[in-house]
Amino acid sequence: MRADLRQDLPRLMAVMVSAFEPTWGEAWTKRQVEDSLLTSLCRYFLISPRGLPVAPDEQAAGFTLSRSIAGETELLLLAVDPQFRRQGLGALLVQQLIEETRDQAGTRIFLEMRKGNPAEHLYRNLGFVPVGERPNYYKTTSGERIDAVTFALPI
Ligand SMILES: CC(C)(COP(=O)(O)OP(=O)(O)OC[C@H]1O[C@@H](n2cnc3c(N)ncnc32)[C@H](O)[C@@H]1OP(=O)(O)O)[C@@H](O)C(=O)NCCC(=O)NCCS
Repeated sequence: MRADLRQDLPRLMAVMVSAFEPTWGEAWTKRQVEDSLLTSLCRYFLISPRGLPVAPDEQAAGFTLSRSIAGETELLLLAVDPQFRRQGLGALLVQQLIEETRDQAGTRIFLEMRKGNPAEHLYRNLGFVPVGERPNYYKTTSGERIDAVTFALPI
């Protein structure tokens, strides 16, 4: 494993475990994250509690995991540790991805979200618009089916 990832993976997974409610079954395992990062198409970004890129040995407050293919960036995961929420870190993380996508001459960012997730406010505030729905796409740990909504932002 790359040296930077060896240090970052535990920090990212600490946020993963604290941020996602088990009911929804949305959190990825360490193995899933590691496997995704084996391809150069996927990348992550860790933000500090102060809203900056994390320094070595600093705790991460949130992260994004994303994948870019042919000019399109997919936001795979966005998470902020509950103790650091509603301080603008989630919006900063998405803005960082928007800027990075723009720098790489990307044309669109999209994401899939569980219908009813309050994160929708954050995405809409940043200009994302709903472009599609997948009925019964998600399955909760209790077996309930929930629709997915796809949001997109042209760059
Ligand atoms: C979604 C998430 C990343 C937001 O992180 P955050 O740091 O609290 O977000 P911000 O502080 O940048 O919020 C920006 C705006 O989004 C909206 N927003 C964020 N969380 C919200 C909530 N729970 N309810 C309503 N609006 C919310 C608000 O408009 C907020 O602005 P305001 O605080 O000035 O009102 C965080 O709640 C989280 O990790 N949730 C669990 C994982 C998840 O569901 N990820 C998204 C998967 S699609």
